[in-house]
Parts: sequence; structure tokens; C-alpha cells
Amino acid sequence: MGRSSATTTGVPNWWPTPPAEGSWSADRTERDRSPNEANSWARALEEFSGEVLKAEDPYRASDPNQDRQTGPTLVRIADGANLADRVASLLLGERLLRPERPLGLATGRTMEPIYASLAQQVKGLEAAERQELRQHWCSFNLDAYVGLEGADPRSFAAEMGNRLTAPLGLDPARVHLPDGWAADPHAAAETYAAQLTAAGGIGLQLLGLGLNGHVGFNEPPCPADAACRCVELSPATRRQNAGAFGGDPEAVPERAITLGLREILAAERLLLVVTGAAKAEVLARALKEAPTPELPASWIQFHPRVLVVADGAAAAHLKGGCGRGEPLT
Ligand code: GLP
Repeated sequence: MGRSSATTTGVPNWWPTPPAEGSWSADRTERDRSPNEANSWARALEEFSGEVLKAEDPYRASDPNQDRQTGPTLVRIADGANLADRVASLLLGERLLRPERPLGLATGRTMEPIYASLAQQVKGLEAAERQELRQHWCSFNLDAYVGLEGADPRSFAAEMGNRLTAPLGLDPARVHLPDGWAADPHAAAETYAAQLTAAGGIGLQLLGLGLNGHVGFNEPPCPADAACRCVELSPATRRQNAGAFGGDPEAVPERAITLGLREILAAERLLLVVTGAAKAEVLARALKEAPTPELPASWIQFHPRVLVVADGAAAAHLKGGCGRGEPLT
């Protein structure tokens, strides 16, 4: 595969081509659909607009013969509501048109408006589409705190229940999270990894970004082949997530179960969403510096299909490439 470039829709050319006008059939997948079929996925891509920057491949200059494919593509969308709508549209289209592989989901404040928009968009679907979505739903969340039961309102399971499962009317059994309440979290991590493998591995993985460069709960330092496991949370992460625990970092669980970079990088496509000025520096480092265990998110540079969606504040340190297809500097 050659280097990707941005299309006029703002979506890189490796993103699957949307089918066009037509009708739904519950038994068919995107591959079966004729090029004339209409659906929300096509609409989503047509509407996906933003300022497209092209992340430069940091390896090409140092070793032009290296068989690298492409760096991440960054779409900058100034307006937060617009950003959430666009990302939600991508997730919806993914579930409707590519039900073969699970959707990888994330929690966190960045994702809250995205799930809210997703719920609104699902309300607006035709009944048959909504039914299809529910029938074929399958998602795996990145992570869960250890020591919180699913009913605990601070757990990621509760968060997904409130923001996704209930509003979309999904079968909870189709919304997978690690079992942070298990007596043996190490065994629970292995079980979760096996479940994901049995489901075919992630198709599209939604990712947020930690202030310390973590993805999921892969805290630095973290090698690119780290598998799903039980991890210790860093003080920085416990501070970052203290809001859900009455503002007290000490109340944030000390451990979590997280998919590893191994499972994340094995996804077909990655969709990293970053908002807010506080993450501008870490986002720029993750996309521009040589990948390192000290910055786990930087490993996504090795993935051939990464779409980064950021608001203006988060993309502030990625100056230079202001026109379509220009490299980041
Ligand atoms: C959290 C989660 C991640 C999340 C990230 C960003 O700790 N483990 O999955 O994406 O950190 O969180 P936020 O969006 O709240 O900044």
C-alpha cells in the first residue's frame, strides 16, 4: 500500500469506500452491497468535514527504503459539537456496515459528547436500521477499573450502560468490558483477550489520549507488544480521572484491566479523538516524535490506518500543515 492522502471528504483514501444509494438488508454486509446503496455511512463520510493535515512519516526521511505505509491523517474540526457528530457518524456507520468485527470503544470525558450524539443519531434512524444495529451490535471497551463492580456508578461498565447501552436499546451482553470485579483480575484479563480473539479482533478502535500519553490504560513505559493485562495506574492518571471520584486521586482504583497495544495495534483501523488545550503537547509528541515506550500513544505511528480527529485547541502544536495534504511540522 502506498502513502495515503486526504480526499475531498476529509477522509483518507484507505478508509473503506462507502456504498452509495440503496436499501438495507439485514443479511448483507458492506462487501455484498451494490455500489448504488444509500445509508448513513455514506452520508457520514460525505458530511465529514474538517481541516485535513497530513502527518509526515517520520521514518521515510531516515530510511527511504523502509517498507512503511503511511503516517496518521489528522482532521482538525474547530467546533466541538461538530466534531462529536462526525465521530459518532463514523461509529454508527461502522456498526451498520461492518458488523463482522467488533467495534472498540473508549470511555472518558472526550467521549461523552460523542456518545450523546450517537444516541441522537440512532433515534433518527429508520426503525429497520435501528433494529439492524441492535441485532448486530458487538463492542469491546478498552478498559475497566479493578475493584469496582459493574453497578458502581463510577465504573466504566456503568458509564457505558448509561451513555450507550440504555440510550441505544442494546442488549448488554453485546457491550463487552473487562470484568474489573473479578476475584482474579489477571485471569479476567486473559478471559477478555480470549473473548475478543474469538469475536475476530477489533475492526475500528476508538481511542482517547491520556495526559501522560496513555491509550486505554497502557501507562508509560509500555512496549508495543504489551497484551491485555491487569496494570497499575500511574499517579498522573489517577489525578486525571479523579473527577469521577469526588476529586480525590486516592479514591481512584490503583489498578485496571486494559487491552494492550498488541490488541489495539491489531485493529483494522484506529480513530484517535483528542480535544482540549491540555492535550496539545502530548498529541504533538505522540504524532511527531519517534515511537517510544515512554509515550504509549506514539506506537500508533506504526499502524497503517490511523485517523486522528482533534479540535483546534488539541491540534494547536501541529502547526504548518494548514492546507489539505500538507505535512505536519
Ligand atoms: C482514560 C481512559 C482512556 C481515555 C483517556 C482520556 O483514563 N483509560 O481510555 O481515553 O484516559 O480520558 P479523558 O477523555 O477523560 O481525558
